[in-house]
Amino acid sequence: MSLDFKPGAFNDFFREETFRGDFTYRNSPHNIRRFPFPFDRDDYMYAVNMEPHVPGRIGSVFEKTFDVDEHYVAEMIDRAKVLADDPLRCQSLPHMTLAGWDLLELIMESKARDYPEWFSLEKNGNRWRWINRPLGIDHSFTFLDEATLPYGPMEYITRQTQGDFTLQDEREGTLWMDAGIATSQADWSVDFDIGMSWHEWHAPVPLAHEMGIFDRALKFLLKLQHGAPVRRFNWTMTVNPLLDTAPETYPKWGPTKTSLTQENLGQKQHLRVELQTLYRLPRSNAIAFDIRCYLASFDELMTVPKWARRLHRVVRDIHPDLATYKGFIRNQPAMVEWLSKYDDGKPTSPGW
Ligand code: HEM
Repeated sequence: MSLDFKPGAFNDFFREETFRGDFTYRNSPHNIRRFPFPFDRDDYMYAVNMEPHVPGRIGSVFEKTFDVDEHYVAEMIDRAKVLADDPLRCQSLPHMTLAGWDLLELIMESKARDYPEWFSLEKNGNRWRWINRPLGIDHSFTFLDEATLPYGPMEYITRQTQGDFTLQDEREGTLWMDAGIATSQADWSVDFDIGMSWHEWHAPVPLAHEMGIFDRALKFLLKLQHGAPVRRFNWTMTVNPLLDTAPETYPKWGPTKTSLTQENLGQKQHLRVELQTLYRLPRSNAIAFDIRCYLASFDELMTVPKWARRLHRVVRDIHPDLATYKGFIRNQPAMVEWLSKYDDGKPTSPGW
């Protein structure tokens, strides 16, 4: 492995920012404008909100297959720290190795195509050379030969890719979470969920089962075709820009929910948006699920007046079971009080 490309040579990435300790994470004005604000109306309820994952507006988080933004390097440093503390955050059952190779190929090909200035992939039969300039990696390996990588294929490529990933095997008319890596998750655990089926790992979610959402979504996913990925949004709330809100570390971050005041709420309270994309993989027939987390503080969101109005109404009117499940029922009154100052009562447009 040669380091022709020294980390630090790129100004495009925030390198020093932290998602822990002093929490220096912030979004540039450019990144706030492209933040994937998830609400297309003034209220929110679960739905089977899936659409084709096709290239979107230039500059948006949908422009490329795997969005790489200014937080890339810092997020990868944070992931390495989480894995060093707890290797069980990444697990792959033995029959999922081929799906890991499928994922590695998908990500390498996509990034090399979409960001040629940062990533490149040269293939000579099964001898591949992968260059990741922002992380200073230049690595030649043999595709499908694990001995030529420092980690399993899923772990190798997801240590270089923003977002958590799970790989689902399809058997017995359902999906099984048989591999995954999660270091930026909204309070769920790969170690707990690994080996579970679709309805089992979704069991804690309120209301959606009774609404038939999980039955319909599963039916849709079982028909997912290679080359036709889909996407959806999910969201929750996080105090401090903490990527790793894991059940394993709840005793560390859970109590910080009691630290909000009207004075610090704008800076500490973050909307956490997950852009979730799903891909059928070609050799293994597995389904890859990418959960890409975007964080923005309330202060940052308030710079866009139409978001300010809408966020106030969504948080104020959300079903209490959802506010409880998403972990912000305790802080909901304080958030509504703070947000109400930014809602001028004007009507909003559906969409956008
Ligand atoms: C929540 C995994 C696809 C809807 C969750 C949770 C996990 C998960 C681990 C957290 C459950 C907990 O509390 O422990 C997955 C995986 C998917 C997938 C691996 C792909 C194979 C979908 C799809 C939908 C969906 C396609 C579409 C309806 C939801 C909803 C929640 C949820 C509504 C609750 C989220 C919240 O309120 O924050 N999912 N999911 N999931 N999932 Fe999925």
